[in-house]
Amino acid sequence: MTTKAKTKVTTIKPNSKQIRISSLINPHFKKMWLTDRPYIIARGGRGSFKSSTISLKLVTMMKKYIQQGYEANVVCLRDNQKYLRDSVFSQIGWALSKLEMYNDFDFRTSPLRIIHRRTHSTFYFYGVDDPMKLKSNIVGNVIAIWYEEAASFKSAEDFDQTNPTFIRQKAPFVDMVRVFWSYNPPKNPYDFINEWLDGINIENERRIAKGLKPRYFIDTSTYLDDKLGINSQETLDEIERIKYNDPDYHDWLYLGKVIGLGTNVYNMSLFHPLKELPGDDYLINIYFSVDSGHETSATACCCFGITEKGNCILLDTYYYSPAKKANKKAPSDLAKDLHTFEQDNIKAWDMDPYKRSADSATADYALDNEYYKMYGEKWHHVAKTRKVAMIDHVQNLLAQGRFYYLDTEKNKIFIKEHQQYQWDEDTMESDDPKVIKERDHTADVFQYFVLDNRRDLDLKW
Ligand SMILES: Nc1ncnc2c1ncn2[C@@H]1O[C@H](COP(=O)(O)OP(=O)(O)OP(=O)(O)O)[C@@H](O)[C@H]1O
Ligand SMILES: [Mg+2]
Repeated sequence: MTTKAKTKVTTIKPNSKQIRISSLINPHFKKMWLTDRPYIIARGGRGSFKSSTISLKLVTMMKKYIQQGYEANVVCLRDNQKYLRDSVFSQIGWALSKLEMYNDFDFRTSPLRIIHRRTHSTFYFYGVDDPMKLKSNIVGNVIAIWYEEAASFKSAEDFDQTNPTFIRQKAPFVDMVRVFWSYNPPKNPYDFINEWLDGINIENERRIAKGLKPRYFIDTSTYLDDKLGINSQETLDEIERIKYNDPDYHDWLYLGKVIGLGTNVYNMSLFHPLKELPGDDYLINIYFSVDSGHETSATACCCFGITEKGNCILLDTYYYSPAKKANKKAPSDLAKDLHTFEQDNIKAWDMDPYKRSADSATADYALDNEYYKMYGEKWHHVAKTRKVAMIDHVQNLLAQGRFYYLDTEKNKIFIKEHQQYQWDEDTMESDDPKVIKERDHTADVFQYFVLDNRRDLDLKW
């Protein structure tokens, strides 16, 4: 239950010009805007205005104290420092400009700070890469904390360790430090943040049963809550396309539903076979991606193309498995094979590769060194992320209906391995589910290619 709002959504008055908050935030968020609970959780699908609403709220809160001449500070947190600038820092800048307060602030980049000139009220930005480092932070006069993209933090312990640090520095002129969380719920119900929220729901219910006020306000939003018409037709069409191709994926990505992982990693109906390259489209770039093995593990290399229409096509596959072979190929043999494979494709598609990606395991560096010695070329070793995240990029491409493969004998192994690609049941009820690492070489190849070329593939997330 939420307390009924007693006041109207505030109208603030910067530089004598009225800005109606209700023209900036969707009506869905009115209760969240007005809640007097200390802890506020905004969870929801992509593009549901969580970040913009929270940033506007934080600026409005600071504004109130600035007008009274106080120094009031806000702490914005991300899981990693490297994301701060493009995320919370620019988001607060956006809110300041929407509220026509941009010119009253100084923007510092090293360290990241946004400082009100007259009162020195400051937005601080930290990455929680190391919660212990944050412990020594002296900000003072804190009025609010914001965990942006909270699902990307390592565990709920990050919140438990960080909250006391800043809550201890509460400004004397506020009753409490408000804590905000915003995130997209992960698919996996056992992901830490989903379990964390289950615990919070239980706590809220327990307090209600005892006649106490819940401490947490939980909001769930989706793009459908847009009553201000902010979403462009292009965005809505894009969402509709994903809904048509893969309704489950849509429910997760855009409705924020915890749909579970399923056993099969990929929905195979999203791999579209082609007899030949389409007549009404053409390749603009080709790419190679390799996953090399040694001893018993296979070496796979795929050639992918991106077309003018923005589709992605698997063009060709090289696959060598040393399993059960008495005389296994040496790195020099593999380098030669891969070179032949590349040259064949370069000729077939009449273009040089735009990028050549590889795994970042030892075996891949070893083969790369051999390849370099023989052919004077190096691969780009991908900076791998969590498996669920790498798979998610592929799922996103698939859900957009943009993935095709040439239905050739050599590409059969790619399809077969993807059909068999499964989550490991024993790890599914954990925060970090794993895939079954058997016959997953082309699946890895695909993930490295997508991860390394997200921009070319026009994958936003
Ligand atoms: N009042 C507004 N006027 C114009 N654009 C707005 C307004 N509010 C939000 N937007 C835009 O709508 C888009 C989605 O909003 P926002 O980023 O806040 O959503 P989100 O729920 O945080 O999304 P995600 O789940 O991707 O983090 C953004 O591009 C944002 O700039
Ligand atoms: Mg956001």
